[in-house]
Amino acid sequence: MLVGMNAQSLPYSQSLLWKLAQYYYLNRGQATWLLSETPYVLTSNLQFAYQLAWVIHAALESESQLPERLSFLETGAGHGVFSLNFLKAFKDVCQLEKSDYFSRLSYWISDYSPRYLQEIAAQPLLQPLFESGQVQLLQLDITEIESCQNLRGERQVLPLGTFNAIFCNYVFDTLPLSVFQLQRGLLCQKWVSTRIEPNVPPVLPPHLYALKDTVFVSEYRATRAEEAESPWLTDFLQKAQETGKTGLLPASEPSLQALSGLYGHLQPGGLLWLADKGYLGEAWLPAIDFWPQTYGLCVTHQVNFPLLRDYLHRLGAACFLDPVPKHQLKFLLAQKSQGLSERLKHSLEYHFVQTNRNESRFVNYVQDCDRLLRGQGSLF
Ligand SMILES: C[S@@+](CC[C@H](N)C(=O)[O-])C[C@H]1O[C@@H](n2cnc3c(N)ncnc32)[C@H](O)[C@@H]1O
Repeated sequence: MLVGMNAQSLPYSQSLLWKLAQYYYLNRGQATWLLSETPYVLTSNLQFAYQLAWVIHAALESESQLPERLSFLETGAGHGVFSLNFLKAFKDVCQLEKSDYFSRLSYWISDYSPRYLQEIAAQPLLQPLFESGQVQLLQLDITEIESCQNLRGERQVLPLGTFNAIFCNYVFDTLPLSVFQLQRGLLCQKWVSTRIEPNVPPVLPPHLYALKDTVFVSEYRATRAEEAESPWLTDFLQKAQETGKTGLLPASEPSLQALSGLYGHLQPGGLLWLADKGYLGEAWLPAIDFWPQTYGLCVTHQVNFPLLRDYLHRLGAACFLDPVPKHQLKFLLAQKSQGLSERLKHSLEYHFVQTNRNESRFVNYVQDCDRLLRGQGSLF
């Protein structure tokens, strides 16, 4: 039920706002992309797919022991255009490099929205890959990775340590956000009470009207010491203050849960790839306290990459964080290893720092994405 009153105060991440965001993705279907309600071109053009395919290939080449079957998982796939582009790019790169990784690959496309998955299941360009079993679909909420299902609604258990690579493109910016603040050394969290005006005209997506008419009242409350990540977040904020930064910490707790779950499902040497809009370095403390951002028509937030990088370090990962603040699409690569190989670092720097062609896009990317989305053209 979208319309109504909710005067009860809740932690920001559990508030009505993020329920509306979830409602949107679970119900909107292809209009999200066909009406460009959510931008997706930056992660869903062939140039980006080639850059990433080269990086993944370099990482696989650096591994001394690879299993016979390789498994990649894409999360929050939405429209499936990245999947199409990546599969093509990875096949081409393997051909150019004379490696057999593509033929050894099983590729899992996942999202938490069954609606998007049904649409991907009907995508004509993917049919041969579904039939051969090389590509499979999975309903997976990355904040509850243990409760995933196949499209028939049967529970599917993903064994730990399964994947060689996991992709998260524009997913973390949609996860519910929490906001923290240190008050006299005590970690406090933003709580809100929300109220939605009841007269929602049935013209635009209802969540938009709901958002427009939402009234937020916010306050900061001390977190309880036993809350899972409190000591670590306090530490992170304290260090930030020591280096001259003060203020608020946007830190999505569901993001930390998702990172920990996804990281556990990587094989040794496996890669976790995040591409998103976000804060880099010094710029992560602006006051985002007061009003959520919308991105196209969706609720969104900047991803706190420095925080996620530190969290992944803590889990034992070696990380590479996009060093270029002006990039519109930031990235973070984590590997389940003691350190990144020289070959992988070189590939990342070459494809995403020195010659990041995805950051100098051409207009026809939009047309290309649109064509693929409608199932036109050919994949290979
Ligand atoms: C902004 S879209 C990005 C789509 C695509 N990956 C891209 O790069 O354009 C966010 C996607 O993440 C999915 N999503 C949001 N929260 C999720 C969660 N907790 N688990 C899995 N998928 C989620 C949404 O259904 C939606 O398809």
